Amino acid sequence: MEIIVLPTATDTAVVAADIIEQLVITRPAPVLGLATGSTPGPLYEELTRRHKGGLSFAHVRAFMLDEYVGLPAGHPERYAEVIRREVTEPLDIPLEAVQGPDGSAADLPAECERYEQAITDAGGIDVQIAGIGSNGHIAFNEPGSALTSLTRPKTLNARTRHDNARFFASLDEVPKHVLTQGLGTIGRSRHLLMLASGEGKADAVAAAVEGPLAAVCPASIVQTHRHATVLLDEAAASKLA
Ligand code: F6R
Repeated sequence: MEIIVLPTATDTAVVAADIIEQLVITRPAPVLGLATGSTPGPLYEELTRRHKGGLSFAHVRAFMLDEYVGLPAGHPERYAEVIRREVTEPLDIPLEAVQGPDGSAADLPAECERYEQAITDAGGIDVQIAGIGSNGHIAFNEPGSALTSLTRPKTLNARTRHDNARFFASLDEVPKHVLTQGLGTIGRSRHLLMLASGEGKADAVAAAVEGPLAAVCPASIVQTHRHATVLLDEAAASKLA
């Protein structure tokens, strides 16, 4: 695990974009793992700037980390929509090259198995982008998630629903259930880029990188990942020893 601390989230986005650019220009069929939420915003904006400057993403395939259960197709907060708006369209990645778990599937466990297999069939994820929840979750693996878990349905805990309520008109509208890549799925990615910014993430970051490897802090899997880069702004790093 490598920890990089830079003054601002814009600075960390540049380093993350350098890593992704290197992948995209050197590999014939790169596979990216995409996160949603506020954290990767500056990274997606930096990649969009580079795309406008000539960096092609036409040969990229991508897999989303997670999805809400029950939001109708086209709902602006459905993660498939968020990724289309913030990543697929700005980077001109072909729509069919980006997949997520389908939170409207009739058989959710079967959909999770299909998704896990689709990642395997694509040869696995080269660079997985991830944020961290204020409670230490990664993707939607809430505290208590099995360290070897695969893509599966999960129930969001109260703190995560409260944190995500800012994207919805009210707390009641935040879905209670999600489909998420598991900690084992994320563990199989070839390079994990975990980004965090802001003081609100400082406790979770300290627990993830300096606490024990433990299900109580799912993001602590960064410590055992074969190649993890933790990119922090100074506020998110402020509780490190
Ligand atoms: C989103 C995801 C979540 C977020 C986390 C932080 O796809 O998997 O784990 O990364 O909840 O969210 P933000 O970045 O909004 O603080």
